[in-house]
Amino acid sequence: MILVTGGAGYIGSHVAVELMAQGDEVLILDNLCNSSRGALERIAQVTGRMPGFIYADIRNRRVLDTVFRDYPIDAVVHCAGLKAVGESVREPLRYYATNVGGSVTLCQAMADAGVMRLVFSSSATVYGDCTQMPIAETCPTGQPTNPYGQSKLMAEHVMRSMAASDPRWSVGLLRYFNPIGAHRSGQLGEMPSQTPNNLLPYLLQVANRERAVLRVFGTDYPTADGTGIRDYVHVLDLAEGHLRALDYLRQAPGVHVWNLGTGRGHSVLEVVSAFERVTGVTVPLSFESRRAGDVARCWADPSKAAQQLGWTARRDLECMLEDAWRWQCYLAAQVEAQGLFQLPNTGR
Ligand code: NAD
Ligand code: UFG
Repeated sequence: MILVTGGAGYIGSHVAVELMAQGDEVLILDNLCNSSRGALERIAQVTGRMPGFIYADIRNRRVLDTVFRDYPIDAVVHCAGLKAVGESVREPLRYYATNVGGSVTLCQAMADAGVMRLVFSSSATVYGDCTQMPIAETCPTGQPTNPYGQSKLMAEHVMRSMAASDPRWSVGLLRYFNPIGAHRSGQLGEMPSQTPNNLLPYLLQVANRERAVLRVFGTDYPTADGTGIRDYVHVLDLAEGHLRALDYLRQAPGVHVWNLGTGRGHSVLEVVSAFERVTGVTVPLSFESRRAGDVARCWADPSKAAQQLGWTARRDLECMLEDAWRWQCYLAAQVEAQGLFQLPNTGR
């Protein structure tokens, strides 16, 4: 049985679905601070069975001990965490308490229970403003410019020290680039509870006429069209990376770092025009100055994951956008009794 912390969230729910699809038993532990029980029902819709669920906080050591005592857990995928960069600046203690303190508590409970295979949701943010592209795992970690990024880097350090102190640990640090997209069924995807900060969820809400305009932050970057470049990776490809990492860690003690990205960068304007092409929906834009803390370019060298895990992102940008839009339409249809939005039949 695999414990997925944060399994009701965007990435964790897709990891849970993929694990269940390959026949694993899944137990989700989540305090639902950025998700809801609806996600569990959607996982059940997609997979045909309900995952196990514990409504709890990863900082609650007593509950964790009970969970490890009562369930035959073999490994943990640790996705639970807070992820809003701006919020982390305003509420740094909450971010460190959850992302660092919560990870420490989870690892302590795992060690005491003898469960020592762990896959952690880290982030390309730990590279800071790395100028060398593509970014390989050998690039030094930088100085993340906000408490969120710092907390991810600190959690990585915690796990490195812990594994160095006890050879029974097998830890995979997965550095995600920019996860977007949704489950192919259109019934599972990202569900921002606040105003989205990230490009895709904001773009989807503009396309859905919930917001007037997509602000393009920065048109004077040293890139072909002046807008920022990122490595967008389909959330289902990302989820598959977790399965590969879990397998690999069975035979590989120590700490392993893998970039999960496609190795291709796309600018903001490329994303917008691909979205318009795929969906037939026009996205009104306004051009703004750069957003503080943004880097110009960021894309992965994913060759280590390819070599060691046999993992490569298979889905292209159009597929990511099409799947994201299908999910957005599904959500809209839940709100509107009559489905107002339709994905054109593109044959995918
Ligand atoms: P999400 O907010 O959708 O999911 C996180 C889940 O963790 C939520 O269901 C939330 O309720 C739960 N959670 C938060 N604090 C908790 C706590 N103290 N105890 C128990 N559950 C708690 O976010 P996501 O996009 O699915 O991200 C998952 C992980 O991946 C996070 O750790 C995030 O930092 C990391 N990550 C995300 C991205 C991204 O762009 N989405 C990029 C890099 C890394
Ligand atoms: N952007 C806009 N308008 C928006 C939102 C974003 O133009 O409304 C631009 C940004 O300036 C950037 C690009 O779109 O050039 C991508 O921005 P996102 O906010 O979607 O993603 P980031 O690369 O800034 O950050 C994300 C996650 C971080 C994570 C990082 C690397 O938010 O948590 O990817 O994994 F650390």
